[in-house]
Amino acid sequence: MRQSKLTKNNSLLPRPDPEARTQSEKLSVYIRDIIDRQEGAIGFDEYMDLVLYHPSLGYYSSDIQKFGPKGDFVTAPQISPFFSKCLASQCRQILGDFKEPSILEIGAGDGIMARDLLLNLEKHNSLPDKYYILEVSTHLKLRQKQLLKQSIPQYMDSIIWLNSISEVNFEGLVLANEVLDALPVKRFKKESNSFKEEKVTFYKNNFCWIDVDADDQLIDNLTRLEKKLLTPFPESYYSEININLKVWLNSIQSIIKKGVILLIDYGYSMSDYYHNEKSDGNLLCHYRHYVHNDPFFYPGLQDITTCVNFTAVAEYAEEIGMNISGYTNQTYFLFGCGLENLVPDMNLLDIKSQTKVSQELRTLTMPDEMGERFKFIALTKKYNKELLGFSKMNQRSQL
Ligand SMILES: C[S@@+](CC[C@H](N)C(=O)[O-])C[C@H]1O[C@@H](n2cnc3c(N)ncnc32)[C@H](O)[C@@H]1O
Repeated sequence: MRQSKLTKNNSLLPRPDPEARTQSEKLSVYIRDIIDRQEGAIGFDEYMDLVLYHPSLGYYSSDIQKFGPKGDFVTAPQISPFFSKCLASQCRQILGDFKEPSILEIGAGDGIMARDLLLNLEKHNSLPDKYYILEVSTHLKLRQKQLLKQSIPQYMDSIIWLNSISEVNFEGLVLANEVLDALPVKRFKKESNSFKEEKVTFYKNNFCWIDVDADDQLIDNLTRLEKKLLTPFPESYYSEININLKVWLNSIQSIIKKGVILLIDYGYSMSDYYHNEKSDGNLLCHYRHYVHNDPFFYPGLQDITTCVNFTAVAEYAEEIGMNISGYTNQTYFLFGCGLENLVPDMNLLDIKSQTKVSQELRTLTMPDEMGERFKFIALTKKYNKELLGFSKMNQRSQL
């Protein structure tokens, strides 16, 4: 998501309308019941899963507007077609190496990236055999179908929405833009030389945090993690860890016979992610273009994310037998894919179009916008070619 207005005080956030508040209240009651049944607390991963993915009331499942100026955030494919055009160049390179290649897009949002990629690939005579979409949200699936049916009816036979990842097995490419940040994580605290799990409880009509002793699985994960860091976590240090990331990655790699998994998201290497100064972790909540760190603000009405620990992604990928072909930031990736050649001659544009193009390029590539925060990582299986997107700069060794 593009950087939005940052606030530390959630009383400054806009208030939802009564209908949305009622929806949030229903979800809160549902979660409260679960907390009561689980001796007064649930893990933050379970809370995140419920508020984002409850089948009807969760943020991603319900029909509240998420994307665009009236929603909560905008993503790169929505900001500018240059993003998908560059990505299409990378796709073309990979698809060209297989006889009957397919693409799987995980978490296709409003479908804009799928539309722009397919249009671009057709223009270069490089359409994949199939374009699979794995989307957790029924509401977004409908939006994707509407957009794609309306804008590219000629490809509808080749676009297939999967109900589960195990339905396919193909050669080619898996893409996920801003999906990793939405996967549920656990919160932890380092205190008096031991680890606590920061769970979610309900007290005086509000959800709030409660520290409990971490269980063996979490302690094991955190102990291994801490050994890899240059310095141990300081006292009273809070952060997050995704203990299911390896299982998630494994499920994805199992569906490609050969090819590339390209993951795009905001995040850092492990040493930056767990930097001593980041003593309150990496949680980012998005509500109407405000960013804040209160995950208990109107459950189900806001997006909750965490930055991605790309070193963990790379390590788990290697453990399950994949290679790390490339890691770089958005600016280098887009220029590696030839962004400069896609920009029209400004002298031929009117002032309004010049301004629009300049703003889009600025947002996508400047370090204070998306250029540095967003990273691309390419994981490969039985595929050894150097990838275009990492040709300008490959920062794999920094992971
Ligand atoms: C922040 S949006 C990004 C949408 C789109 N990729 C874009 O760039 O505009 C996250 C998307 O991932 C989907 N999603 C989240 N978790 C998922 C999962 N485990 N499997 C499949 N889709 C998921 C959401 O429903 C949503 O479509």
